[in-house]
Amino acid sequence: MTCTIEAATDRDYLNVAALDRISWPTAPDLFIPDGEHIWRIWCDLATLLVARQPGDADPLPESGNIAGGLVMFPTTTDELCLHKIMVHPNCRGAGIGTRLMQAGLEAATTPVLLTVDPSNDAAVSLYRNFGFSIRERIDGFYRPHEDRLIMVHPGPDPATP
Ligand SMILES: CC(C)(COP(=O)(O)OP(=O)(O)OC[C@H]1O[C@@H](n2cnc3c(N)ncnc32)[C@H](O)[C@@H]1OP(=O)(O)O)[C@@H](O)C(=O)NCCC(=O)NCCS
Repeated sequence: MTCTIEAATDRDYLNVAALDRISWPTAPDLFIPDGEHIWRIWCDLATLLVARQPGDADPLPESGNIAGGLVMFPTTTDELCLHKIMVHPNCRGAGIGTRLMQAGLEAATTPVLLTVDPSNDAAVSLYRNFGFSIRERIDGFYRPHEDRLIMVHPGPDPATP
């Protein structure tokens, strides 16, 4: 089933928020979900890309026709923040994360920064595939047991027109 990678519409936010709630480890103290209200704002004001299933596909548990998402927004520095990339657990390992990241980086006009759990091998590997490198490790970045790697991508190649 081939998804399209496209900008989210303002009707996607509930499904994207639902996807956010099921995409990370389930232990309640391992994950801080983003709320539906900020997903609604990101539909309008951030780069929010979704992987949308074809119209004739069976709806996915929780997230309907949304198989993946990526959200990225400007910061007070000259770097964009790629806040989240996620793929529905039923759809992983089929290249959707790669396609979302490719589209996200194509939309980036500056360097891109993200944070990631150092033990999240799949995500770190995906980021390295795209040329992200580790700038710093911050222990206790969130709660005391939640460490993060800060990874950066240099942004568009100035030699590319
Ligand atoms: C990380 C994530 C977005 C990857 O999405 P995906 O659609 O499964 O990824 P792809 O099929 O495009 O694979 C891309 C790369 O990810 C890495 N990867 C994916 N699954 C992996 C796994 N189980 N173990 C190790 N690396 C893995 C590989 O480097 C892979 O590239 P390769 O196939 O050339 O080896 C997905 O696993 C996910 O949603 N995880 C939960 C949410 C999360 O942790 N997001 C990132 C932190 S914000």
